[in-house]
Amino acid sequence: MARRYQSKLTWDDVTPEHLFLNRRQIMAGTGALLGAGLIGGTAQAQDVLEPNTWEEITTYNNYYEFGTGKTDPSANAHTLTTSPWAVEIDGMVDNPGTYSFEDIMAGVEVEERIYRFRCVEAWSMVIPWNGFELADLLARVGVQDGARYVAFETALRPDEMPGVRVPVLDWPYREGLRLDEAMHPLTIMATGIYGRDIPNQNGAPMRLVVPWKYGFKSIKSIVRITLTDEEPPTSWNMANAREYGFYSNVNPNVPHRRWSQDSERRIGGGLFARRVPTLMFNGYEEDVASLYDGMDLSENY
Ligand code: MTE
Repeated sequence: MARRYQSKLTWDDVTPEHLFLNRRQIMAGTGALLGAGLIGGTAQAQDVLEPNTWEEITTYNNYYEFGTGKTDPSANAHTLTTSPWAVEIDGMVDNPGTYSFEDIMAGVEVEERIYRFRCVEAWSMVIPWNGFELADLLARVGVQDGARYVAFETALRPDEMPGVRVPVLDWPYREGLRLDEAMHPLTIMATGIYGRDIPNQNGAPMRLVVPWKYGFKSIKSIVRITLTDEEPPTSWNMANAREYGFYSNVNPNVPHRRWSQDSERRIGGGLFARRVPTLMFNGYEEDVASLYDGMDLSENY
């Protein structure tokens, strides 16, 4: 069923050579901004962004609505109905309303973005997402003057989500960004991985990806987007404000209250799995550091 966007990329195309060429195309297409994010910085110069396998990306997940174990989402998330799907867009916008998935996809351009992904639990992957810039969707609905934040909500369906019977978090899962973070060209709504529809366990049919922030900011299966002038409440911050700040930028200099954040375990590679140093803003410093000029990033963690 070709309901969702399919890129022209097929599984067989995903070879290192293809990725190399693709990376150059992306750099040529969007200029230094994204290029720097993909390769930038001295530490990353030798670090070829070799994506994790489909298997790794889709079987080692966090999606607490389907259980707290890493393999629970891939085992349980098939129960989520993702078609039809609609997203309510409300608050300080010119065109509030309930937009169907198809309607949203008709107005945006989907591209491949190979991003580093860093979980607050100190593991990481490289994921070839297919998605569109959130800024394109926000432009379409018309952000009103005075809006300063964007709030997001995941679907809450007790009949389809066995994990929400357990009050690990105050459901629905909620996240938020400052408007300039949401409008940044690195911020995407992902709808695919490796050119295939995004699987339920990774947040079908549409999930946020903010590559310079800890993974929990990248909220899955979004049903509501609200433009507001107040910093919105977020699930992890509500659960434990000392450990999870609103910003949650990847910052190796600010330890989590219970563990260090200065290195990470690369998922995959079996016996050769490596621990590598964590990079400021997850390697996207050149692209995003200016968003936080003048802010104390140890206070605003
Ligand atoms: N979104 C929802 N709705 N529920 C969740 O439990 N987990 C977050 C984030 N988005 C989560 C979520 C966390 S902690 C991480 S690390 C990433 O999803 C994991 O994304 P992935 O499974 O696609 O790698």
